[in-house]
Amino acid sequence: MPALALEPIPPRTLVRPAPRIAPGPALDLPVVSFFGRSLAEYVQFFALDLPALKGRDVLDVAAGPSSFTAEACARKIDAVAADPLYGDDATALAARVESDYARMIAQMRAKRRLFRLKSFPSIAAAETDRRAAAQRFLADYQARMFNGRYVGGALPRLPFFDGTFDLVLCAHLLFIYAAQFDFDWHVAACRELVRVSAGEVRIHPLCGPDGKPYPGLARLRRELRERGIASEVRAVDYEFFAGANAMLVLRRAAP
Ligand SMILES: C[S@@+](CC[C@H](N)C(=O)[O-])C[C@H]1O[C@@H](n2cnc3c(N)ncnc32)[C@H](O)[C@@H]1O
Repeated sequence: MPALALEPIPPRTLVRPAPRIAPGPALDLPVVSFFGRSLAEYVQFFALDLPALKGRDVLDVAAGPSSFTAEACARKIDAVAADPLYGDDATALAARVESDYARMIAQMRAKRRLFRLKSFPSIAAAETDRRAAAQRFLADYQARMFNGRYVGGALPRLPFFDGTFDLVLCAHLLFIYAAQFDFDWHVAACRELVRVSAGEVRIHPLCGPDGKPYPGLARLRRELRERGIASEVRAVDYEFFAGANAMLVLRRAAP
């Protein structure tokens, strides 16, 4: 059989098409993005005291490609990261970073009015920082994915014993993706975060993709209180996405 004659692909068809941006005054988040931030951003939006965390067990839930755990471990904090995508190989996660970053950064540029830029001088500076965070995560993940630092797990059921961690963090999943996760899921997720913590749980941000406060927050706090969980809303000295300037702190209520 004669060999197939392959036409060379014209260079234009190799160019990645620009992501489609849905119009509207909110971020378009049809699926949970694999998008992550650095330890420096975590310090700001979780008001972390890094020296006080040295030698402590800290869990980052929904950690994605954040470099928090890699950077925290380098500072002698015993950090562990959990995410449903952990377990996939580093090449697959790098491909996911590539596509999800393109989509999120296109929105950051197209929906500039949704960003306050308190914590970065420009959208470009935020992009550079977050891409660097993902690269640091990918290198650490490739080196340490089998040593227990990166654990596959999804809320509302985490693969850890009760009270394992001194501090549990969860950023950019609850509330901001409220269209994907209903109210009952949020209650169950908060209870699970408290279950694996021996101290505090910190959740950020408290707004939805439109920058408005999560409408179910007061009801959620009441339901948690009835289940023995105390909550507090604390302002933080951080705002990049408009409205993302507070965290929810949870702990077991005193009996
Ligand atoms: C936007 S990223 C946040 C990354 C990081 N926490 C940060 O703030 O930079 C959201 C992450 O949540 C993860 N995720 C999706 N569903 C989840 C679930 N049910 N439980 C825990 N994580 C989940 C995704 O895989 C993704 O990595």
